[in-house]
Amino acid sequence: MAVKIKNKEQINKMRIAGKLAADVLIMIAPYVKAGITTNTLDKICHDYIIDVQDAIPAPLNYHGFPKSICTSVNHQVCHGIPSEKKLKKGDIINIDITVIKDGFHGDTSQMFFIGKPNVAAKRICNLAQEALYIGIKKVKPGAYLGDIGQAVQVFAESNHCSVVREYCGHGIGEAFHEEPQVLHYGKAGTGVRLEEGMTFTIEPMINIGKRHVRQLPDKWTVVTKDHSLSAQWEHTLLVTKTGVEILTLREGEIFR
Ligand code: MF3
Ligand code: CO
Ligand code: CO
Repeated sequence: MAVKIKNKEQINKMRIAGKLAADVLIMIAPYVKAGITTNTLDKICHDYIIDVQDAIPAPLNYHGFPKSICTSVNHQVCHGIPSEKKLKKGDIINIDITVIKDGFHGDTSQMFFIGKPNVAAKRICNLAQEALYIGIKKVKPGAYLGDIGQAVQVFAESNHCSVVREYCGHGIGEAFHEEPQVLHYGKAGTGVRLEEGMTFTIEPMINIGKRHVRQLPDKWTVVTKDHSLSAQWEHTLLVTKTGVEILTLREGEIFR
């Protein structure tokens, strides 16, 4: 199956889905505080997506995933399952939101600090966001996916952090995960050549320690093998005639 090029009508639906996903992150932000459980965050997002946005939380029942959002805390890399565990001061958490609206997906995630972060926590969260932005800046027609991967990898590794290899960004549209796979490491000038109308995510997972990960017995939660902190930020992107449009840009987010 080849990479799907979206037409105008499909792109407009992707814009709407992207905006809704971004809006969920804005909505949930004030609740992401010490003492709240990730189950409560899940419930608030679930209800907002369904009742306010008239949309569908894509993770719920996706290959058996039991909740409506992913919450990955501290050394959890991705796909953390919301639970009765409370957030506490000093934690960092990734909240990953995917909504389906009118048949199209918007997928975005960000890190939050619980209370005042320590130096390492702040560093890895900021670095992962910068890694995402560096990847996004490579997106334009004629560029290669390998340009994105190399830029993210060089940036992370030159800052003495590591890039998770087992999980990657992905094409997105009527399906949650479409072709192509968007690796966060690699060689410039290799891989799929970008064309106007492609939509995909970039979502680097950056570890402060070694890159290796393992999956917990719950079959979802991915953690760093060395228990080092991990951070991830994600946007859904459209390749435009001249460059890139960030479909999940949050109001007030400054991309630079
Ligand atoms: N939102 C994740 C991604 O960025 C995928 C989560 S799959 C789930 O691709 F089943 F865990 F929700
Ligand atoms: Co994604
Ligand atoms: Co996601």
